[in-house]
Amino acid sequence: MRDLDQIRYQIEADLETRLQLTSVHSSTLVESMKYSVCGSAKRVRAVLVCATALGFGAEFSRALPPAAAIEFIHAYSLVHDDLPDMDDADTRRGRPSCHKQYSATIAILTGDALQTLAFSTILDATELSAQQRADCAAILANASGWCYMVGGQAMDMELMDQSAQSLDQLFTMHEGKTGALFRAALEMGTIVSGIDRNSKQFQAMSSVGTNIGIAFQLTDDYLDATAANEQLGKPAGADSLAGKKNAVAFLGVDETRKRAIQYLNEAFGVLESVEGDMTLVRNLAEKCVYRQH
Ligand code: IPE
Ligand code: IPE
Ligand code: MG
Ligand code: MG
Ligand code: MG
Repeated sequence: MRDLDQIRYQIEADLETRLQLTSVHSSTLVESMKYSVCGSAKRVRAVLVCATALGFGAEFSRALPPAAAIEFIHAYSLVHDDLPDMDDADTRRGRPSCHKQYSATIAILTGDALQTLAFSTILDATELSAQQRADCAAILANASGWCYMVGGQAMDMELMDQSAQSLDQLFTMHEGKTGALFRAALEMGTIVSGIDRNSKQFQAMSSVGTNIGIAFQLTDDYLDATAANEQLGKPAGADSLAGKKNAVAFLGVDETRKRAIQYLNEAFGVLESVEGDMTLVRNLAEKCVYRQH
């Protein structure tokens, strides 16, 4: 049985292999894609895909294409998130953010390229059946698109300009910008295990993913207010400095923490109903809330 670190190492190696790309058009673009995906990332979403698949007894290699794909989408979202017109962050993963290392132009194009690479990674996965490839692509497109991740990112930016914000809006935004990708991680891990999209197991794993994702974003907001730059590898206190009404601005530090633990417990509760050994998923979910960076 693999542990979480072993899974992460295998994902790192797989990502490196998949990024051995060359371009006749722009070597800078390819370099920037590698720069943006590699580096000291936690790989939480990718590990969740694999942990779910292993929990359902699937072959590890079947989980790798969707695991890589979700990291490509996530990396693209961070590259764009850091741009001057979004969060304007100069650092990411302990080094200059993509637009600081290259340029805003290259950063926009890097995000675009990583997004399409994510889908070709799934659609070219010979380890999976045609139906599984289609299901994974549809799940990832839905979770990362206008009605979830990108929609949530737009809402995040728009809410900054509004004086009034409700708690409901905050959680809708969290579910969109972060929760949906976590949901997609668990859903794709379930699909590659041969479990039907209309089954109760699938529904349960969806709900577990959303709950872990919201707990993760609450923890990110909490760390933004309580941790230091060096610890996070990205600008600490950036949300309050930018006037973002994140969870801490809304609820305070203690209540944010409490809510993160509540979402984690909700995920644990639903996991109880799942047939399969979800120990790794459970342990990783716990790490998402009890983390230092
Ligand atoms: C940061 O995600 C963006 C959020 C959704 C909070 P991670 O904290 O997973 O970033 P990396 O991949 O480990 O750098
Ligand atoms: C980013 O949220 C969410 C996405 C990129 C989809 P944040 O803006 O809070 O992430 P960090 O704090 O910059 O990592
Ligand atoms: Mg942001
Ligand atoms: Mg940001
Ligand atoms: Mg943040």
